[in-house]
Amino acid sequence: MTTTSKQDQIAELIRQATVIPVLTIERLADAVPLAKALVAGGVRTLEVTLRTPVAVDAAKAIIAEVPDAVVGIGTILNADDLARAEALGAKFGISPGATPELLKAVAAGRLPFAPGIATASELMQALAHGFDVVKFFPAEQAGGIKALRALAGPFPNVRVCPTGGIGEANAAIWLAEPNVLAVGGSWLCPAADIRAGNWAGITAMCAKAMKTLKAG
Ligand code: 3PG
Repeated sequence: MTTTSKQDQIAELIRQATVIPVLTIERLADAVPLAKALVAGGVRTLEVTLRTPVAVDAAKAIIAEVPDAVVGIGTILNADDLARAEALGAKFGISPGATPELLKAVAAGRLPFAPGIATASELMQALAHGFDVVKFFPAEQAGGIKALRALAGPFPNVRVCPTGGIGEANAAIWLAEPNVLAVGGSWLCPAADIRAGNWAGITAMCAKAMKTLKAG
């Protein structure tokens, strides 16, 4: 698949998601009930981050047991991480940043992928490798919507999934930006709720958020 068609694929996948929860799973046993809770609340597209020792097994378990979830892998930092994501059958990949090595590996691979950018130069690197769908990270901390609008001047065709500092209070504002496909963040899966197994609470929070955000 060419980089362009992979970009169209991930753009559509992100756009349909509206919200992509960033999952950091500490205990393997939480993976499936957490994913089920999110899906039950209408949040189907999930970013399982490679930040814990159980992350790969957690993603595999979700893919095997929660067929309605669209599972992507996040925190892909290098070619090894990319290979792990491809091997476990992820539908997409996301990175907080983008080294030339990673961009090269991803452009040659088969996984639809959104590299992370926070500056014009990083965005130019991503574009040079064929990536015009990017994660804007850390969105609020890197200048927020003002920074995103400024980037849209020289780069009007870039499509973005902002992540970092986004939550219930500002998700709709970000989603109203014309170049924003969806927003990402950890607010729909708080660590305390995961630890406590508050799956019903997570489902309720997701359902409320999706109702508000889809209506906007
Ligand atoms: C990420 O990895 O994308 C961020 O850690 C998510 O940021 P948030 O916790 O501020 O939502």
